[in-house]
Amino acid sequence: MRKLRVGMIGIGVGGAEILPAMEAMEGIDLVAGADVVPTTLDRFRERYPAAKTHPSARELCDDKNVEAVWISSPNRFHAEHAVLAAERGKHIVVEKPMATTLEDAARMVEAAERHGVKMLAGHTRAFTTPIRAMRRLIASGRHGGLRALNIWAYSDWMLRPRTPDELDISQGGGVPFRQGPHQIDTVRLLGGGMLRSLRAQVGQWMTERPIPGYYSAFLEFENGVPATIVHNGHGYFSGAELVPWGEDKSIYTVDQRVAFRKSMRAGARDEASEKQAIRIGGAREQEYFREVSTPAWAPEDMGLAIASLDRADVRQSQTGLFIHDDDGKRDVPLPGGAETAIAQRRAELEELYAAVVDGKPLWHDGRWGMATLEACLAMMRSARERREIMLRHQVPVPAEYDADMPAPGA
Ligand SMILES: NC(=O)c1ccc[n+]([C@@H]2O[C@H](COP(=O)([O-])OP(=O)(O)OC[C@H]3O[C@@H](n4cnc5c(N)ncnc54)[C@H](O)[C@@H]3O)[C@@H](O)[C@H]2O)c1
Repeated sequence: MRKLRVGMIGIGVGGAEILPAMEAMEGIDLVAGADVVPTTLDRFRERYPAAKTHPSARELCDDKNVEAVWISSPNRFHAEHAVLAAERGKHIVVEKPMATTLEDAARMVEAAERHGVKMLAGHTRAFTTPIRAMRRLIASGRHGGLRALNIWAYSDWMLRPRTPDELDISQGGGVPFRQGPHQIDTVRLLGGGMLRSLRAQVGQWMTERPIPGYYSAFLEFENGVPATIVHNGHGYFSGAELVPWGEDKSIYTVDQRVAFRKSMRAGARDEASEKQAIRIGGAREQEYFREVSTPAWAPEDMGLAIASLDRADVRQSQTGLFIHDDDGKRDVPLPGGAETAIAQRRAELEELYAAVVDGKPLWHDGRWGMATLEACLAMMRSARERREIMLRHQVPVPAEYDADMPAPGA
């Protein structure tokens, strides 16, 4: 099998999350890693002795052996690193949010197109099995037209260890920048991509965190279909508790969340060490990213998504979709729905591989990512200006996307 030679830029927590998926994918050869922290590079070298390490993104992009890069550096560097990679002919997967400004996103799109490289704007929950299946069901028209979308998430995002850049909204910190792309990408995928406008409010009320931990947004598609998205990252109620099998799906237990809150209020938390412990080779990396035994979906970071059609409501189930229709309620298992979360994280790599190696279309390209970023930025602007924001950079989901896969429950 032809191997795609990939280098990772920014081997942090997001990187640690994707490494097991890279290891598990036969077509991916992880040949290099770049980071600015020497300990991280040492740990990367220990884990992947055949791979090269580089002290900067530039040096990794200059590495002739690297064909594609996975950019999981801090948000403020995404544009710089993507342009560096494109200029050297490397294909790209860039983590969400694609950039922190629309101007940067446009620069990235322009660089990728000018240099003829594939750039995928990724790692959002829109790529997961139940969401893709939900889209195919909607597209099939079997239950009539799409009427409404609602996604609600309650997570402990604000209690997880954070670096200074994550606590600065101008560098892409906070729940709207970091969690908004999951729900916006999902809503856009399910609703066809073309948002018309958005009204939102953003909430910042946790005194220990100088960033917003909440948003509510009302989005309207060009065809009038409404959508709401909500994310509360304060970690009091965890959405995983909504399903009977979800108790152990929260990142932290209730007791841990109480302890974090207390130590933050006392100013006693060592977040730098805690965060390093979940990065590559850290004491807690294993339990965070490598011991994913249960395949069960639960309403974690992206939340519970419900699509309402003329004659059905559809939502995620443990390993598939619940379809509530005129015949009652069915739990439809999905191909791949029983795979572990690690396997489900491969979707971007598979899309990139298919595009680069097999010449297939790249669906989640830079323009797709820019449209999602536009809505993400519009949430914050709408909150500041207290008005509806019209969107100008939206792109549709191509009808051919996932067309080779059947709609579920046929
Ligand atoms: N899709 C997801 O579910 C998900 C999950 C976590 C993080 N992320 C994304 O990953 C990115 C990083 O977040 P994180 O939580 O992993 O933070 P992090 O701080 O753990 O990771 C960033 C890494 O980049 C390194 N770095 C910093 N400056 C660099 C530079 N100039 N060049 C190369 N490396 C540099 C840091 O040392 C660190 O190892 C963000 O864009 C975030 O949104 C995505």
